[in-house]
Amino acid sequence: HQKLNIGLFGFGVVGQGLYEVLSQSPALDKAISKICVKSKKNRSLPDKLFCYDADDILNDPKINTVVELINDSEEAYHIVKRAMQLGKNVVSANKKMLAENLTEMVQLQKEHKVSLLYEASACGSIPVIRNLEEYYDNDLLLSVTGILNGSSNYILSQVFDKNQAYGEALKEAQDKGFAETDPTFDVEGYDSLFKLIILTMHSFGIAVDPKEVLTYGISNISDFDINYAREKGFKIKLVGQVERLRENRISLFVLPRFVGKDKYIYSVEEEFNGVVIKGLAYDKQFMFGKGAGGHPTGSAVLSDITALMHNYRYEYKKANYFSGFQYSKDHAIEI
Ligand code: HSE
Repeated sequence: HQKLNIGLFGFGVVGQGLYEVLSQSPALDKAISKICVKSKKNRSLPDKLFCYDADDILNDPKINTVVELINDSEEAYHIVKRAMQLGKNVVSANKKMLAENLTEMVQLQKEHKVSLLYEASACGSIPVIRNLEEYYDNDLLLSVTGILNGSSNYILSQVFDKNQAYGEALKEAQDKGFAETDPTFDVEGYDSLFKLIILTMHSFGIAVDPKEVLTYGISNISDFDINYAREKGFKIKLVGQVERLRENRISLFVLPRFVGKDKYIYSVEEEFNGVVIKGLAYDKQFMFGKGAGGHPTGSAVLSDITALMHNYRYEYKKANYFSGFQYSKDHAIEI
């Protein structure tokens, strides 16, 4: 297999998580040769490992693999694009950047014959993209429904089961490293939306514009809603769904929903994510696991790095099965 020499961008929660996960993997222990960060500060690793200019990694011919784990999606876009243009394979966890530029990202891979993998961008440690690509490589798929954001699920769990105040629960989600740098992405549903856009590409082969999708977060859930749910034996969960409709259309939404005990996602608590995949002939499957945090997300990045070693790439085959399918805005809440 291919020997990887990795340049890492970003050393935040996920970057550090990846570093720690890699140190437990003898095969890849020394694979990271440079880490690009914004500024100098006291870090747990030797200074000589760090650089402060993206070109130090991008223009290094020995580095054949770029792992992009920064927060800023604009900057991430330029780094990932340039890395691919220079013939480097890339792993990214930047769901906003990916969701907003999927069509171009698919094109760049073809054009430059490189691989861009991003399992860590959706549902942390759950291998949902790889499974949609490989196992669900047919046209039986009907819908993908999930709890896609760990932070809002953590907050809802705390508020619901422990009567904690919303603000306090949000602060805990931040302290534990689940939340985005700007947590409005989590609680207003955008983080779930970006992940849903990525899953839609690997489910139905369509790049939906995030701006077109009905998205509603958890910040406006009232005590009345919570009491109502408790009375009826429901939980409130932030749900993202893509569903196939009649006449070759698909609909998407991100919405808080009342969820009864009969649903798989009822049991998904704290920062966990859960994805229900529904299709013809097999009915439903449920994938469950940690959706946020440095080590779970780092482990998804590690999995992509290993896949690159074996020359894996996404083939985006779903477009063949669902050719002619279109995103339909009108049916977003008809469920
Ligand atoms: N902020 C995200 C979450 C991190 O809470 O799910 C994982 O993408």
